[in-house]
Amino acid sequence: MIIAANFKTNHTRKSTKEYIETLDKYVSSLKNDDSVLVFPPSTALDKFNLTENISIGVQNAYPVEKGSFTGEIGLEQIEEFKIDTTLIGHSERRHVLGESQDEVREKYTFFKSKGFQIVYCIGEPKEVREQGIEAVMAYNFSQLEGIDLEYENLIIAYEPVWAIGTGLTASNEQIEETLALLKNKIKSPILYGGSVKVANTKEILEIKNCDGILVGTASWDVDAFCQMIEIADNI
Ligand code: 13P
Repeated sequence: MIIAANFKTNHTRKSTKEYIETLDKYVSSLKNDDSVLVFPPSTALDKFNLTENISIGVQNAYPVEKGSFTGEIGLEQIEEFKIDTTLIGHSERRHVLGESQDEVREKYTFFKSKGFQIVYCIGEPKEVREQGIEAVMAYNFSQLEGIDLEYENLIIAYEPVWAIGTGLTASNEQIEETLALLKNKIKSPILYGGSVKVANTKEILEIKNCDGILVGTASWDVDAFCQMIEIADNI
């Protein structure tokens, strides 16, 4: 299982360090082989001394080694911390910050060429979900355009936009149906994200074809995130 925490624009450098120390101590005490990913804000990136099950990733980066792209970070800034994991295509980048599929694909192609582990996010907005499963799948597949689905270090995260940060989780039936249809085309692990919390972690992780979770809000508390890892460990 893959259990991932997306801090978004939360936590400071200091609180991230404390969080990761607590998490590392906890994960080191387990015998499981679950993979734990943490995406802190870029100001809190560092070389952390971690057990091998935990990876730190960046939430976003510009697809260059270095250059003149004010406000962005590139490969040089990431490699300083020996980081080789990134999120790409998160709904907040697509829908709030206006990233196009072309930009998302460019990032994917660049970081794939550098061998990064990529958590690639897709997910439909509410008005598409309301049109039914065919529209949902057409939308999700359109977000995979130009993406090499054979890439060995690819992880897909299915995060319906209407379930992110809203407290509205997709129903188990909706998740199961969508993941099954995605799995017809994708061999990579697929995570679910969207209002995952301690109380619904078990039922979501037990859904067929669900290989893990990508957690926002509920992961910002290290104790809650450790509880989710423990639940995964017991499945
Ligand atoms: P929430 O868990 O806050 O709904 O966020 C999900 C998400 O966007 C993770 O990337």
